[in-house]
This record gives sequence, C-alpha cells and structure tokens, in this order.
Amino acid sequence: LVLYATCILLVVSSLYVLRHFADSRRNLPPGPPSWPLIGNLLDLGALPHRSLARLAERHGPLMTLRLGALTTVIASTADTARDVLQRHDAAFSARSVPDAVRACAYDSLSMGWLPPSSPHWRALRKLCSGELFAPHRLDAHQSIRREKVQQLVSHVDRLSREGAPVDISLVVFTTALNLLSCTIFSADIADLDDIGGSGQFMAVISESLQVAGQPNLSDFFPAVAPLDPQRLRKRLAERTAGEPPKNDFMDVLLDYRGLEDGRGLDREMLRALLMDLFIAGSDTSAATFEWAMAELLQNPSSMAKAREELAQVIGSRSEIEESDIGQLKYLQAIVKEVFRLHPPAPLLLPRQAEATTELRGYMVPKGARVMVNVWAIGRDGELWSEPERFMPERFLGKDMDYRGRDFELLPFGSGRRICPGMPLAMRMVHLMLATLLYRFEWKLPKEVEENGVDMGEKFGIVLALATPLEALAEPV
Ligand code: HEM
Repeated sequence: LVLYATCILLVVSSLYVLRHFADSRRNLPPGPPSWPLIGNLLDLGALPHRSLARLAERHGPLMTLRLGALTTVIASTADTARDVLQRHDAAFSARSVPDAVRACAYDSLSMGWLPPSSPHWRALRKLCSGELFAPHRLDAHQSIRREKVQQLVSHVDRLSREGAPVDISLVVFTTALNLLSCTIFSADIADLDDIGGSGQFMAVISESLQVAGQPNLSDFFPAVAPLDPQRLRKRLAERTAGEPPKNDFMDVLLDYRGLEDGRGLDREMLRALLMDLFIAGSDTSAATFEWAMAELLQNPSSMAKAREELAQVIGSRSEIEESDIGQLKYLQAIVKEVFRLHPPAPLLLPRQAEATTELRGYMVPKGARVMVNVWAIGRDGELWSEPERFMPERFLGKDMDYRGRDFELLPFGSGRRICPGMPLAMRMVHLMLATLLYRFEWKLPKEVEENGVDMGEKFGIVLALATPLEALAEPV
C-alpha cells in the first residue's frame, strides 16, 4: 500500500512539475499552482468572482488558471480589461462555449454564443440594433413601458394596502419580462397577480443562468411554455388569415429577409433569438434593481436624496417619463454605483482566444478561455476611494459612464460583443427605479431591520442576492 501511495505521489508531483515547466516555456501569464486533472477548480469556491479577485492580488492583473483541461486567462484591472476588450477585441471576441450548449446546437443559433466571424451573428446584431434597440424604435414603444410600469405601481399599491411585503426581484422580474414581451409580441407573458407563475418562470431563467457552466438547454426550453412555439404559430396563422400586422418586433422578425442569400429566419433561429432576449434581459435587469433597493434601504440618506431630486424634477406630475431620466443625475449616479459594486454579470460572458496572442509580454494560447473580472475592477482600491462603500456621489460631476468606453465600469462589457440590450435595459431600470421611489416610501420589514439585510450573493452568470429582498411600501 505504501509503495502504491508513493507511486501515485511521484506521478502527481512529476505531472505538477512538468506542467509548471511547460507553462513557463509557453510564457503564460502567472497563476497559482494547479493539480493534475482538476487544475485550479478547487480554488474557485462558491463565489468565483471573489476568489479570482483574491488570487489576482497575489498573481497579478493578468493571471492563468487551469479549469479542468481548459487554460483560462483572467483580466482583473481596468488596464488589462482594455487590452482584452479594446486593443485585442478581434482576437478575443469569440465565445468559449460550454459543452452542454454545444450539445443541443444552441451555439450555432444564439447571438450570445455564435462567433463574430459568423454572418448569422452579424445579421442578428444588426437586426437587434436597427430594429429593436435603436432610439427611434425604443421611443416608439415608450407607451408600452409606461403602461407596464403603471401596472407595477398598482400591484405594489395593492400589496401595501394589504400590509404585505414586496418581493422586489420577483415583481421587477415580472415587469421586465412583460416590458420585453410587449415590445416583441405585443402581449404579456407573465402576470403580476399570478406571482406563482412568474416565480416558476424566474426559477427556470435564474437556474439556467446559475448553472451556465452546464445548462441543459434542451431540457429547459420546453419548460418555458408561454414563449413558444404557440405564439409563433399563432402569429403566423394570423398573418395567413389576413390580420393586420401589430407593428412590433415580431412582425419585423417575420418579415425579415436579411440573412445571406436573402433568406429569412427559420423557426429554430427565431426561437433561439427570443430565448436570447428573454434570458439575457430579464434576470439582469431584476438583479440590478434588487441590488439598488438593497443598498438604498441601508443608506437612507441616498434614498432621501433620490426622492428629493425626483420631487424637484417631476414636480406635481404623477407619472415619470423616460425623457425625465436625463435630468435625474443622482438617480443615474445610484445606478452607476450599483453597477460598480454589484455588476450583474461579474465575469461578463466568457471569451475565447481565436489565435495565440501576445498580451503584456505574455502569450495567451489559441483556444484559451479569457474572462474579465469586472467585479474586481469595481472594488479596485487603486481606482476607487473607500471601494466597499455605497457612495453614488462619487459619480456626480464625473463624465464616467457604463457604455464600454470607461474600463473602470464595465457592467455591459465592451467592444464588438458589448451587450446589445443596454439601451433598453437602461430605460427599464431607471424608469422602474424612479417610479417606485417617487410613488412609495420604502422600509425594511421589522425583522430584517433588526438583523440587517443579508447581502450574501448567489453566483451564476447573473449575480443575485442569495436571500430575496423583501420591503414594505407606503404610498405617498
Ligand atoms: C450580452 C450585461 C440587459 C441582451 C451581455 C454581456 C453582458 C451583459 C455583460 C456580455 C458582454 C461581453 O461579453 O462583453 C447586461 C446587463 C443588463 C443586460 C448588466 C441589464 C442591467 C440585456 C437586455 C437584453 C440583453 C435587456 C435584451 C433584451 C444581451 C444579448 C447578449 C448580451 C443578446 C449577447 C451578445 C453577444 O454575445 O453578441 N449583456 N445585459 N441584455 N446581452 Fe445583456
């Protein structure tokens, strides 16, 4: 037995030494030592963005880890993020696709996973930026968002009259889904008064984002029944029966002939696009909102300042318009501060090196996974004073933005893969936050007030609060 154990120990340590030797010859960025087979998987823990930030303090802003067989390079500062996302955008714009996604061929259809070299990816990005997220399109759908936000207000109003707490992320998630579905199909897909149904929807989407390393998409797609295929089939039937078009995004999609050789999108492509939009758009917006409320409820002076600003700008009007957002400087600063401290996608989406690329004197090998730890950048003491403190004031009078030009603040990523839904997300988040702060006073339930808000995180592609935030609303 001793001989057997000694042999294993010898093999393991030789592999370990050989790996180190090979790595130094390949001139990879430095990183922690890794075990044979599992590599550094054990180093990740339950909250990888935090573990990676700690490791980067020791090993540097550009660091190599072995995640199983996969060489992974992590950028953890604004400068290295700029190198990856701007200077070498072309080399690192492909996605590192998880196996499960590949297994159900979702990667060959989805905007989120297709490589930028694919004409289909380019057609989808063009379609979305021209027809869904362009300012004139967003302006045209403003009344839909206003109506959905009014429904949210009525729902919160009813809960407040019943003395019931508001499950913040659930009501905002439901509203965000309906904002998206009304823009796309001209119909709601979730019901604020049937929160159980929305809860199931949210569980499916959150879970898929949680286990994004191995999402079994082929299992979870059929579970999202209200989306598809019924609606597609229904709309196609309406079309053949001569019903007038609804002039929403679905009509644009059904009429679309912009693929190479003038083809339109087939059913599978349409389905993948709708899933992309709903998955990418709902949980991220709900998480942003929930973190914002969690911070504001613990920072009453910031909450008060936001409400004062709203009273000044909105005056005696009862409804807030999207055109008001530009004047709400403090509210905008709150959203930036939330993105800095709690970026909804803390590691963005994984990229892949298309070719072996030199970065800061090191070599990032072809095929390596490349990640940017935007969570670490948001808490970098070299960039931010008192980085752990929620202080929206730090953004007042500063030109810094989250649109991908300032590498200190990258909640939507940057470069050619930057989030295409950002213009819609920003309207939704600001409008919902402004309206709920303007129409209600908020406080924590007594028990939470006494014990403090649990700010623990649940890691996935989207970083959410581990304990859903509940708050009591009082109409003003
Ligand atoms: C990609 C963040 C809302 C659709 C991404 C990425 C991030 C992100 C970090 C990856 C960027 C990269 O790799 O550099 C967010 C945040 C949101 C939000 C923080 C809300 C607060 C939305 C909305 C939609 C959307 C509302 C659409 C309705 C997409 C799509 C991609 C994407 C389709 C994949 C793009 C590609 O790979 O080419 N988002 N997003 N997102 N987002 Fe968003």
